[in-house]
Amino acid sequence: MKLEDAKKRFIEIYGGRSEDIRSFYAPGRVNLIGEHTDYNGGYVFPCALSFGTYAISRKREDNKIRFASTNFDQRIMVDARDIKYEKKDDWANYPKGVINGFQKRGFKISGFDVLYDGNIPNRAGLSSSASIELVTSVMLRGLFDCKISMIDMIKLSQEAENKFVGLNCGIMDQFAVGMGRKDCAMLLDCNTLKYKYVPVKLDGYKLIIANTNKKRGLADSKYNERRRECEKAVEYLNQKLDIKTLGEIDTAAFEKYKYLIKDDTILKRASHVVYEIKRTLDAVDCLNSGDICAFGKLMNESHISLRDLYDVTGVELDTLAEEAWKVEGTAGSRMTGAGFGGCTVSIVKEEAVDRFIKCVGENYKHKVGLDADFYIGEIGGGAKEISE
Ligand code: GLA
Repeated sequence: MKLEDAKKRFIEIYGGRSEDIRSFYAPGRVNLIGEHTDYNGGYVFPCALSFGTYAISRKREDNKIRFASTNFDQRIMVDARDIKYEKKDDWANYPKGVINGFQKRGFKISGFDVLYDGNIPNRAGLSSSASIELVTSVMLRGLFDCKISMIDMIKLSQEAENKFVGLNCGIMDQFAVGMGRKDCAMLLDCNTLKYKYVPVKLDGYKLIIANTNKKRGLADSKYNERRRECEKAVEYLNQKLDIKTLGEIDTAAFEKYKYLIKDDTILKRASHVVYEIKRTLDAVDCLNSGDICAFGKLMNESHISLRDLYDVTGVELDTLAEEAWKVEGTAGSRMTGAGFGGCTVSIVKEEAVDRFIKCVGENYKHKVGLDADFYIGEIGGGAKEISE
């Protein structure tokens, strides 16, 4: 929906004056490389997308908070003095978690009406939830004049997802959505939260995002299982080392001490993480030196590692990536996000894009029986108020 239409819809739902309405925005994200490394204290390399979630909102004089969305029919009303998780409130638990986070930090939040309008495909692994969290954060900061930095809102949003909604995600999604910058990816050290922007100059190439459209069933429990497996790897290694996360050791130290990991599955998980962190740093060097083909090769290796060692791909993501690799003009292709469904990200020569979409789409349909969706990924800016 266009912003103007969303504002009209807001008035249709809530009535009142349009002058007092304020609008906020937060993007979705795609991770270029560095997967399942964030909660291991490693590096990630995501960028914000040029589409995301809008929040159109207006303060009220009382303590009522009313949520509506153009994407879901359900309307939710809560009292600002009594914010708690309720299963029946479904998606509204994300903004409620953020409100709770602001309140826990001592900010006074009273009533408001909000209409969310998003164009991130749901459950595609492009961070629609982090986008709702960050758009809610910048909205609360704006409406209630809270003195809070973006990095604190990022941490608070992750905490809302971990503790309020109960999903044990790392910091990558909230960081990318909050700190995104046009035409740049962010190299983030998830251990220290130090980061740098790296211009994504893809001369003659495009980023293509392909959605498997697979319904993700077990994703959350498998995600948590992987986290536990990595913690187990740290325990094994700590018979000789003293580390908190796998991100603290490089590949040489890992090769020296990996004999300590007696369980084959755990060894595979840890190998993925340690080498994926190295690939991420190498990939950034490739991008800086303009070597898109070498960058693409690392993306392919990342996918293979996520498939064979980390076991988070599945036939849908594998088919999309493998079909992409076959198309002439593809520099690289890999799954992005948590896996188990969701999207792949590919770097494809401009002149090959149409052929790419046709070939990958047809072969995917033929092999998997689902229709994939394709989007050209433009890299946009981070969460903000829209002043017009
Ligand atoms: C999800 C999580 C992130 C990250 C990725 C995997 O998107 O929300 O924190 O762990 O999976 O890289």
